[in-house]
Amino acid sequence: MSSSEADALVTTLDDLVEEALATFDDVASLSGLNEAAAAVLGKRSSLGAVKQQLGALAPDERKVVGRAANEARTRIQARFDERQATMQEAERRAQLEAERLDLTEHTSSRRLGHLHLVTQTWQALEDVFVGMGFTVAEGPEIETDWYNFEALNFPEGHTARDMFDTLYVDVGQPESTLLRTHTSPVQVRVMERSEPPIYTISPGRVFRRDTADATHMPVFHQIEGLVVDEGITFGDLAGTMEAFTKAYFGGDFTSRLRPSYFPFTEPSAEFDIRLPDGTWLELGGSGMVHPNVLANCHIDPERFSGFAFGFGIDRLALVRHDVDDLRELYRNDVRFLRQF
Ligand code: PHE
Repeated sequence: MSSSEADALVTTLDDLVEEALATFDDVASLSGLNEAAAAVLGKRSSLGAVKQQLGALAPDERKVVGRAANEARTRIQARFDERQATMQEAERRAQLEAERLDLTEHTSSRRLGHLHLVTQTWQALEDVFVGMGFTVAEGPEIETDWYNFEALNFPEGHTARDMFDTLYVDVGQPESTLLRTHTSPVQVRVMERSEPPIYTISPGRVFRRDTADATHMPVFHQIEGLVVDEGITFGDLAGTMEAFTKAYFGGDFTSRLRPSYFPFTEPSAEFDIRLPDGTWLELGGSGMVHPNVLANCHIDPERFSGFAFGFGIDRLALVRHDVDDLRELYRNDVRFLRQF
């Protein structure tokens, strides 16, 4: 074989390299790149064909062409590696982009609701009384005649029972079980189970057979206070009411007690507050715990005395917030409730 033949092979190799590099640059996908590489570098490739001709060359020419063939393979391989890396990277990037989750979306924060005006008032009242040294007691909303009436000195048939339009529950003897008409039964329960000194308030839901109007609801809320200790006087009741009035409503409010009647207190009084504009507002009832009530609860009336008071939480909320209809509190119109 002449040296011109070897020269021709070397030139072919150069062309092969040029062609392969151009093809690699042209392909648009990894699979295209792999196909192109197989065609150039594989067994039956053009590079393979050149190698097969090496055997026919003289030894020193074989050396020259062989080295050129190796160099060609190295250059092609290097470009292949480079293109492969670039394309793999691009493919990975495209995939990441396609699967990207946008976690940056801005939505305005969720609006929280708040406690109902009656609950807020209930809690504010509890805070004031707890601050004055009272504990809080709760009791059942369905009561027996004993706790709601009898123990509170309303004997059966007593006309004072007519003060309450009672809702009876169909359990046991007729008229033996009822929805409590006031939270006073809680006070009976407290006196039954504890020894004086007693300083406790009982907030809760109460029920009366009233038709809903601007100042009445068949279901409403009361808070009652009870003090039983040695030497408690009517002056303590008046002073406690005055201290409460200032603590809850403010320093420019005052209070007064007006004679009244309740079977469970003697003497009894209505409890009014005086607004800064000089008008008086009736808030609730109060009085000295009747000796019969103490005795019914196994407390010695000779040794202990006490006072009690009670008023409506709902009406208080109306007064404080200048709402003129009790029913607004229970219509559950969010536009109304949101204001408080
Ligand atoms: N329990 C009475 C009512 O519901 C209020 C009251 C409580 C009166 C305590 C005097 C003493 O009308």
